[in-house]
Amino acid sequence: MKRPVLPRRVILKEVGPRDGLQNEKVLVPLRAKLRLIRDLAAAGLKYIEATAFVSPRAVPQLADAREVVRRLPRRKGVTFAALVPNLRGMEQALEAGIDQVAVFTAASETFNRRNIRASVAESFRRFEPVLKLAGREGIPVRGYVSTAFVCPYEGPQTPRRVLSVVRRLFAIGCYEVSIGDTIGAATPTAVWRLFERLLGAFPARRLAGHFHDTRGLALANTLAAMQMGIRTFDSSVGGLGGCPYAPGASGNLATEDLLFALHGMGIQTGVSLSGILRASKGIARHLDHPLTSKVYRAETA
Ligand code: HMG
Ligand code: MG
Repeated sequence: MKRPVLPRRVILKEVGPRDGLQNEKVLVPLRAKLRLIRDLAAAGLKYIEATAFVSPRAVPQLADAREVVRRLPRRKGVTFAALVPNLRGMEQALEAGIDQVAVFTAASETFNRRNIRASVAESFRRFEPVLKLAGREGIPVRGYVSTAFVCPYEGPQTPRRVLSVVRRLFAIGCYEVSIGDTIGAATPTAVWRLFERLLGAFPARRLAGHFHDTRGLALANTLAAMQMGIRTFDSSVGGLGGCPYAPGASGNLATEDLLFALHGMGIQTGVSLSGILRASKGIARHLDHPLTSKVYRAETA
């Protein structure tokens, strides 16, 4: 039997300060967020999603988005991004000095309505002025498709539906689309099936995987996507994460766990595992629960 061909290098996009913290009940002080971001950049991460310019009523934890971006610990070669749902968020993100933004919609109508109070079609109407402004200001825009596998309200989503949303995100000008398993319900076969469909239409370098670890399969799903040629993956320090509008959604794939697997397989990332563990230890002090990353637990036991 032939071994699968592994990549030499994989790109990690860190979403801990945004996806990770958005689900935390205890308000994390601004200085702790800035320190977390500084530690993540020092560990070698080149792309950090720092916050979200969303309604503070919807996500109170990220109400300090402006301050976070204004005071970002800048480091050469590190790109800082923020999630924006509409023009208002985009304007605020720009004014604060963000490098990149990400817009987000979903395969499932019901999830999208719960999450951003808009149909999928309406979310694209909101993105139009965001992309226009981003184009004028030279700000690259990433796209997310949530519930790409299973919706907590509607159940399984078809690859055909996901493909149509991904197509629209590219059509409006996103440079990359991240495929979200929002509630961590995908399996490797579902990953192969979806990416087979997507890769029939778009090159692997324009797609990313964003796997939540709710049912313990985020790493398996990431490796499945890697086998299909995907090279960019989102992960979250300590395994923090979840979406407040997706019942049952828990942490993202932990950055530590992904690094341990990749480095062990001889795949380069440019990110230091010990540096990430330092970042995890720092943020853990501000949370009311232990971190879920298995590597973090093993290393700090
Ligand atoms: P809406 O109610 O349709 O919008 O909410 P609205 O225009 O009627 O405004 C409602 C309120 O929000 C108003 O304030 C606006 O001023 C304010 P109020 O009068 O009630 O005090 N508002 C804003 N405030 C700050 N920044 C803004 C902004 N826009 C309006 N940009 C809206 C629409 C999108 C604003 C709202 O539903 C919202 O903020 N939702 C956020 C949802 C969210 O952040 N979810 C988590 C991130 S997505 C995710 O985690 C999935 C992902 O990780 C991938 C995956 O795992 O699949 C990306
Ligand atoms: Mg997410």
